[in-house]
Amino acid sequence: MAPKGYSRTQIALHWVVAVLIIAQFVLHDPIVAASDAIKNAEVPVISALVMFHVIGGSLILALAVWRLALRKKRGVPALPEKESPLLKGLAHLTHYALYTLMIVLPLTGLAAWFGGNATADFLHVNMKFLLLGFFALHVIGALYQQYVLKTGLINRMMRTDK
Ligand code: HEM
Ligand code: HEM
Repeated sequence: MAPKGYSRTQIALHWVVAVLIIAQFVLHDPIVAASDAIKNAEVPVISALVMFHVIGGSLILALAVWRLALRKKRGVPALPEKESPLLKGLAHLTHYALYTLMIVLPLTGLAAWFGGNATADFLHVNMKFLLLGFFALHVIGALYQQYVLKTGLINRMMRTDK
């Protein structure tokens, strides 16, 4: 049976990963500059922020796999009853798209950075738009649930049900 709420670990992982992903976007300039330097056969500047992108991005991958394992083992609460089948479908699609991106973006990043793979580089740079789109849909959905449908949805990603 589906649990009543998310566990403390699931909630912590959700917000740690959200912060890490936002940081990947806000602080991406140094890794782009390093990648451009390598493409132009120049010596790249490997600053702390470049390392942060590589390590933070790899951590997102590891934490996403952990979250998927938790979903399988413990499960997640059912979507709110008030939600129409259309919105439920959209919510499921958005969650799985976000998971897919949390796995494929780091993998393409690693293949681009360590393997110099041009296709992976192209995918990495362009799939950021998909992530931004689903992120926007996710946040709009959460706010719509909270303030229009008044299902208190955001609360269950803030604290456990105990
Ligand atoms: C979910 C995790 C990640 C996110 C959200 C992310 C996001 C981004 C973003 C927004 C850019 C800037 C793209 C642009 O506008 O040009 C970028 C560039 C880059 N990222 Fe990531 N990244 C992630 C993980 C990784 C990992 C694990 C690596 C491995 C080293 C990596 C390597 C790179 C490289 C090499 C670039 C420069 C690409 C280029 O400009 O040619 N990324 N990333
Ligand atoms: C890039 C950042 C984010 C990612 C990748 C993300 C991803 C996810 C995923 C995959 C789920 C499904 C539950 C799970 O498996 O843990 C979820 C649930 C949730 N997220 Fe996010 N999220 C992000 C940011 C946010 C933000 C900024 C908010 C605040 C508005 C938010 C609010 C929620 C809520 C309320 C739920 C629970 C939905 C439900 O129980 O049906 N998320 N998120």
